[in-house]
Amino acid sequence: MIKKIKEIQKEASGFQAVKLQDIEDFRIKYLGKNGLIPTLFGELKNLSKTEKKRFGGNINLLKSIVLDIIQKNKKELSEEEKKSEEMDFTLPGYSWELGARHPISKVKNKIVKIFERIGFLLCKGPEIEDDWHNFTALNFPEQHPAREMQDTFFIEKNTDILLRTHTSSVQIRYMKNNPPPIRIISNGRVYRNEVISSHSHCMFHQIEGLFVDKGVSFADLKQTIQYLKHSIFVNSKIRVRPSYFPFTAPSAEIDIQLSSNGPWLEVLGCGLVNPKVLKNVGIDPEVYSGFAFGIGIERIALLLYQINDIRLYFDNDLRFLPQFRSE
Ligand code: PHE
Repeated sequence: MIKKIKEIQKEASGFQAVKLQDIEDFRIKYLGKNGLIPTLFGELKNLSKTEKKRFGGNINLLKSIVLDIIQKNKKELSEEEKKSEEMDFTLPGYSWELGARHPISKVKNKIVKIFERIGFLLCKGPEIEDDWHNFTALNFPEQHPAREMQDTFFIEKNTDILLRTHTSSVQIRYMKNNPPPIRIISNGRVYRNEVISSHSHCMFHQIEGLFVDKGVSFADLKQTIQYLKHSIFVNSKIRVRPSYFPFTAPSAEIDIQLSSNGPWLEVLGCGLVNPKVLKNVGIDPEVYSGFAFGIGIERIALLLYQINDIRLYFDNDLRFLPQFRSE
């Protein structure tokens, strides 16, 4: 008898309910009318008085153990239930932290939109160029110091394949394949072998503009630049400073001043397309004229976001980039 009681106790102790019905089944199995414990009590009938006393006590102990097991399982199940009730699946979840556009992209997008509003078409050119598109067709004479204005990275020694030093090469590519009227902008990375410092880098971004049609004059160029300035820096001043580029004549540099006593910062080069360049791409300079400009995106972003070090753009520092999340 004692062995039987021990076995039943051992089995009962391993019980673990997964759902309420398990507890009920367990209860019936042990305590139900024909359950294991009442059957044990029934068996006492045939025993002697002392045995009855002894085993009766053991069976009662078993009963209270079984009752404890039932209580314990009930408690655990109701706690589980409470937990799942506490979870409200209809609540909005935590959102991912949003990324931010890079300040260079933001300025680029802004300028592209400004020019698209007045009918300029966005087009692309390669970053790996040949000497002809980057220099020769743009009227940089062979062996001329003008080439040294832009210190060049060559892809391989003694070849004419290079990383473009400016986006003006896109002017050539477009004019060669499309007759006037032409009204395009193009943006992208350009490369120059320069010492990296707070105000210059070996890689930066430009937006090139080109307008070729009959009767295009310097007045058109100035007005377009004025429109650009108004669209980005409402209360600023611009200054047109004579300059030199082999592919424009006359050429100018545009400086911008944000506040009346503030410094002037050079932001773009421009000019009327040199007739020699038009000839190089098969456009008759007697019939057509044009203007072109090249904007330094980093410079505009420096002004717009008051950034004081050009290297910050390329460091990928997560203390810097998320600041441009708004807008
Ligand atoms: N390509 C010139 C530069 O990188 C800028 C420029 C573009 C000047 C178009 C005139 C016309 O400095």
